[in-house]
Amino acid sequence: MDNDRERLMELTSGRPEMESLVNECLAVVDNCGAAPEVESARVSMLGKKGKIPGIFKGLSDLPTDEKRAVGRIGNELLKLITRLLEEKGESLSAARSGDIPKGRVTDVSLPGRMKRAGHRHLLTSVIEEVISIFIGLGYRVETGPDVELDYYNFEALNQPPYHPARSLQDTLYVRREDPEKDNPGDILLRTHTSPVQVRVMESREPPLFVISPGKAYRRDEIDATHSAVFHQVEGFAVDRGISMGHLKGTLEVFARKLFGTKRDVRFRPHFFPFTEPSAEVDVSCFACEGRGCQLCKGVGWLEILGCGMIDPNVFTNIGYDPEEHTGFAFGMGIERIAMMKYGINDIRTFFDNDIRFQSQF
Ligand code: DAH
Repeated sequence: MDNDRERLMELTSGRPEMESLVNECLAVVDNCGAAPEVESARVSMLGKKGKIPGIFKGLSDLPTDEKRAVGRIGNELLKLITRLLEEKGESLSAARSGDIPKGRVTDVSLPGRMKRAGHRHLLTSVIEEVISIFIGLGYRVETGPDVELDYYNFEALNQPPYHPARSLQDTLYVRREDPEKDNPGDILLRTHTSPVQVRVMESREPPLFVISPGKAYRRDEIDATHSAVFHQVEGFAVDRGISMGHLKGTLEVFARKLFGTKRDVRFRPHFFPFTEPSAEVDVSCFACEGRGCQLCKGVGWLEILGCGMIDPNVFTNIGYDPEEHTGFAFGMGIERIAMMKYGINDIRTFFDNDIRFQSQF
């Protein structure tokens, strides 16, 4: 539209009569406030007796060159002003269609058009809940990559290639290196969040109080309690003088915040390659207060995580002096915790994307 106006000015410059004719026409276009006005403007400017066709009237008296020039300008004015008027008409009718017609009343009793509000996935909420408990204890959140080096996933965590515990955590190898060659090592989908311990210790100095949520991957047959992709939250503390007592106290506080103030916690000896001693931690069953029920399979206890004191070999691998620093670590499966807490009996429902399931929480 602005281009058309410029073109009109250009065409008529140096011809004062035509210039004022064009200015007059533009003013008429601008002043149109409704469709009928556009129509009468069209008649007055472009109709048979209109202003623009008037240009052609005296044409026969002009010398040939001038005849040609004026004829050409006249034709172009016709075209441009036609277009400006059309655009004006369109913009007026678009504006009008937004108006509420007189006499029509808004029916406020009609139900509104509801947009269903979404919310966090249950796993996200549980992860956030766990993290916020540890943030309250002074921990900070760190994350690591899902696609990990063998070194961080196994080797630095005291699981050399021949270690039998590796067979429990088979995974997808993204790239396998030739052991004969000088190489950065195999690349795999991490089987747990524990490699974040090593990455953080490598890049920062103690004291470290870290909580790390994320996905883990394993070559597991998928059934009601196993998924090839699942979520874990890892936590660890490294400083001078950290003891098993600190670990127990920390996990007790955590379990009571998550499962209720009356919960008890017990440690059962276990084995993990990267902690020594290691334990599995149970919380007294919140469904039966520890008396024994379907949820805890009559035992009165629910297993919630694995933990232990960080093995001195792990510190040595990283370059920390195990005589100077000690620490504890723990790792929990988020699906497992969510299933217990919310009475879910099949892990696959988390990933089925059935909105009827998701919207319950
Ligand atoms: N990474 C272990 C697993 O996935 C869980 C675990 C156990 C993490 C003991 C820890 C730990 O930090 O100390 O089975």
